[in-house]
Amino acid sequence: PPKKKFRFLRFLWRTTYLTALGGAGWLAWGIYETVHPVEQVEPDPAKKTLVILGTGWGSVALLKKLDTENYNVIVISPRNFFLFTPLLPSCPTGTVEHRSIMEPLRHIIRHKKTSVKFYEAEATKIDHEKRVVVINDNSDIKGDVHQTEVPFDYLVVGVGAENATFGIPGVKEHACFLKEINDSQKLRTKIMDCIESALFKGQSQEEKDRLLHMVVVGGGPTGVEFAAELQDFFEDDLKKWIPDIADSFHVTLVEALPNVLPMFSKTLIEYTEQTLNEEKISLRTKTMVKKVSSKYIEAEITNPDGTKELQILPYGCLIWATGNAVRPVVRDFMSRIPEQKSSRRGIAVNEYLVVDGTDGIWALGDCSATKYAPTAQVASQQGAFLARLFNNMAKTEKLETEIKELNDLAVKAVKDEDKESVEKSLGSKTKALGRVKKLSPFAYTHQGSLAYIGMERAVADVSWWNGNIASGGGLTYLFWRSAYLSMCFSTRNRILVLLDWIKVKAFGRDVSRE
Ligand code: FAD
Ligand code: NAI
Repeated sequence: PPKKKFRFLRFLWRTTYLTALGGAGWLAWGIYETVHPVEQVEPDPAKKTLVILGTGWGSVALLKKLDTENYNVIVISPRNFFLFTPLLPSCPTGTVEHRSIMEPLRHIIRHKKTSVKFYEAEATKIDHEKRVVVINDNSDIKGDVHQTEVPFDYLVVGVGAENATFGIPGVKEHACFLKEINDSQKLRTKIMDCIESALFKGQSQEEKDRLLHMVVVGGGPTGVEFAAELQDFFEDDLKKWIPDIADSFHVTLVEALPNVLPMFSKTLIEYTEQTLNEEKISLRTKTMVKKVSSKYIEAEITNPDGTKELQILPYGCLIWATGNAVRPVVRDFMSRIPEQKSSRRGIAVNEYLVVDGTDGIWALGDCSATKYAPTAQVASQQGAFLARLFNNMAKTEKLETEIKELNDLAVKAVKDEDKESVEKSLGSKTKALGRVKKLSPFAYTHQGSLAYIGMERAVADVSWWNGNIASGGGLTYLFWRSAYLSMCFSTRNRILVLLDWIKVKAFGRDVSRE
């Protein structure tokens, strides 16, 4: 028998080999599955109509796990793709390309056993009494019909939220946002535009400094991650290819509270602020933006002695990342339900995500108001919960019909052995019904928070067994990358993101204007 040392080496080699083989097989299956949609059956018109609004984290998680053969499923959303938002802050600088984090909805629905209808449209009115949704085709190209009504038996509202501006004058007109793909595309163009305009012949130094001042408002994870990505872009690529901007390009992060990233532990907040400082990002905490004009930001600063002063900051590009606000369609829906009157942050729901004051309408994700933070983790767990709920509802209905039929048979049965067999089936169906009906309310499992903070460093507060692990630095950055890669929607997305990262390492980011 081989010596102990060799036995261990052989074990290590075999494990590595089998893992690599398994990984390659999994990847190959993923690719095969992506390009080979299944034969689908048409839905049974006698089944109930389930309308799902939105194609974000919540709605897509529901769609993924839903047995579509039980319903006539209709999905309505102004965008015909799912967007992997955790990597969106990497897009405006070109670290990750837009299409790499988009998954076409058709890829998702063509893999369902029973076909699903999709309408690319915006829901403009939810009428819970008439049980219809009014939808509008808001794209540039419209057919003769561009507004209609879609009736529903069941409705799931997963329309997300819009950017909060708190009614601050000038924000909507002058700021860039970072919520959707087109926000990111606009932002990428604007950054490069500012750079090229700053270098225009005869530009004064003052104007050059203004144009190259990138101000990010909001020290939540969106603001921190984007400011970090922008500074990386400058350090790694812009400085190298456009040395003329090296002395003037400057990123400022503005936050109204005393600290950034309030959802992280104190040590990680301190680590983040120290890293931002090392990166030469100007961090202005206790600074509340009050007004925005085309070239200047007015901000109220709270001094250490508690006094307040107004400061004017010239800027070239303003990125607004101050969290979520309720969408107009949701506000309108809530205004017509008395039970929703006191809910401010979104649609009030019960522990099964049923919209308070309605019947057969559910809400999930950022458009709903629960005790959880508006995150992708929460929305996707809610989506998976609703899929279980709908699958169980269909099973319940089927079992109840079967039990009714068996009861009728039991009455009609004459022979003892027939009676006995019917009783036996009744017993097992009733037990199954009891099991199916026992669905516990939604319970969220927090897996942790991760954020990229620049210079190939990340912070993580991860739940582990019954405790929590807080870490920050280069290793956490590798963890952050592998976690996000594994969380990508599909094998196709994983490969595209990985290729983007390799491409950026090899050739740097693209500095041309789109
Ligand atoms: P969304 O994913 O926003 O989807 C809403 C859907 O509804 C979209 O398809 C939209 O087109 C559609 N819609 C909009 N209006 C209508 C309408 N009128 N009718 C029909 N459909 C409509 N969370 C994390 O947990 N981890 C992260 O790392 C993370 N990173 C983020 C990074 C960024 C830049 C941003 C902006 C958010 C990030 N989040 C993260 C938060 C996360 O993206 C949201 O919490 C999540 O998207 C909420 O899912 P949702 O399904 O409720 O809404
Ligand atoms: P946020 O709500 O987390 O943070 C917004 C910040 O803007 C707040 O700290 C607020 O104090 C500040 N602010 C508001 N008004 C201001 C003003 N006038 N002037 C200066 N500062 C102002 O918003 P964010 O970052 O967009 O995140 C939204 C949701 O998405 C959160 O639930 C977040 O957890 C989640 N998310 C998670 C990420 C991750 O886990 N890596 C990444 C991005 C978002």
